[in-house]
Amino acid sequence: MIRTKNISFSYEEYENTEELNKDDRELVLIARETALNAYAPYSKFRVGAAIRLESGIIVCGANVENAAFPSGICAERSAISNVVSNHHNDKPTVIAIAALTEKGLTDETISPCGNCRQVIAEEESRSGNKIRIILAGRNKIQIIDSISSLLPLQFNKMNLKVNLP
Ligand code: THU
Repeated sequence: MIRTKNISFSYEEYENTEELNKDDRELVLIARETALNAYAPYSKFRVGAAIRLESGIIVCGANVENAAFPSGICAERSAISNVVSNHHNDKPTVIAIAALTEKGLTDETISPCGNCRQVIAEEESRSGNKIRIILAGRNKIQIIDSISSLLPLQFNKMNLKVNLP
């Protein structure tokens, strides 16, 4: 017998950073600034991610491209690598993501690619906390409660049947 299941999720949408609380607004501004540090000579699409940790520390990452294209890394994974490497026992609570083209901030929000969704999901499970996701366009901001909404039916360590810490 076929059973049809439905997956849906809700998210918040805002028109500009003024509508956000002070901490979220700060994080979006830092993500936008971080995008300026991207090394994106090939796509000219610069992305910045800023992660607020439970301690209040903010950790950033930008995309870093490479002449061997697959060797490049997205801003989100760049920021998470920084968290794991330098703040191992702290826990991410929220990540803000913003992008710049040659014309300036993107009007629309950009959403993490599939690889980054998978890595954000693993970071939620590593830290044991949900990570709020703030997608920040110039005049549109979307806030999602957890990566599970963007990556339903995810592959994770339970599927490997191993009890990693
Ligand atoms: N990129 C990110 O850094 N984050 C995203 O969420 C989407 C895409 C980067 C990868 C590549 O350097 C450039 O943007 C164009 O795809």
